[in-house]
Amino acid sequence: MGQTIGIIAIKGGVGKTTTTLNLGAVLANEFDKKVLLVDANFSAPNLGLHLGLVEPESTLHDVLLKRADFKDVIYEYDKNLHIVPGSLISRKVNPHLLKEKLAGIKDRYDIVLIDSSPALNEEILSTMIAADQLLVVTSPDYPTLSTTLRAVKLAKQKNTPITGLILNKVRNKKFELTLEDIEEASDTPILAILPDDIKMLEALSQTKHIAEHAPKRNIVYEYRNLAACLIGKKDHKDNRFKRRLKRFFKKNIPKEEVNRLQVMYENSKK
Ligand SMILES: Nc1ncnc2c1ncn2[C@@H]1O[C@H](COP(=O)(O)OP(=O)(O)O)[C@@H](O)[C@H]1O
Ligand SMILES: [Mg+2]
Repeated sequence: MGQTIGIIAIKGGVGKTTTTLNLGAVLANEFDKKVLLVDANFSAPNLGLHLGLVEPESTLHDVLLKRADFKDVIYEYDKNLHIVPGSLISRKVNPHLLKEKLAGIKDRYDIVLIDSSPALNEEILSTMIAADQLLVVTSPDYPTLSTTLRAVKLAKQKNTPITGLILNKVRNKKFELTLEDIEEASDTPILAILPDDIKMLEALSQTKHIAEHAPKRNIVYEYRNLAACLIGKKDHKDNRFKRRLKRFFKKNIPKEEVNRLQVMYENSKK
């Protein structure tokens, strides 16, 4: 019932909003989960814009300022994919309020994904407090890794479990940090490696999610693998030819897949 997953990073532009939207869309449309996406980036909300929701009448802002009920600010993008957009909040918000307000609505959904702000203040705290678990988005470079380490440390201080890291915008270049480098520094498993894909920008320009715009891209398979792991769907198979071959010869299982299997196994018992 209603597991809440916060998508965090203490850095802008790494892919929090993109991950929230695309993971949510796959969970809703391909795994038949009822999904709510919440834009908790209070000072620079833009999740709604990714789906073409330009000037919503009421937003999470109104809920947190106690001018509206949560149920009145939910927009139905699809039958299974609902979204709570944000609008600018210029003053401080009690970081416990988001959790309090979500409590009244989260059990109507299988999964609530919270798109967080990178701001290291009550904004990111709101997500950390409201979420049952966190996914930290990072990319394979030193500056991002250093902010990832801070995010991991902060989450540990707040006692919100981090399920894993999502390594985004990977180009497979020699100068990039490797999975091993990042896991060792952060002491946190990487659950998905998402390629840097120009189609993501194309999808954004058409206000579509990537599974809708280009369902055969590798990145969509990776979102599916991550989604299956989060919901403990043990019979999910990655049907790309190379993955089928690897499974057949039982070799070279990528480390992130091994990490996912562990999380998937835990989740399948819930
Ligand atoms: N895997 C990817 N490949 C290519 N572009 C990406 C990818 N992930 C995100 N982007 C692009 O990077 C930009 C920043 O992403 P966004 O999700 O808004 O970051 P954040 O929410 O962390 O600030 C957007 O233009 C988005 O389309
Ligand atoms: Mg964002």
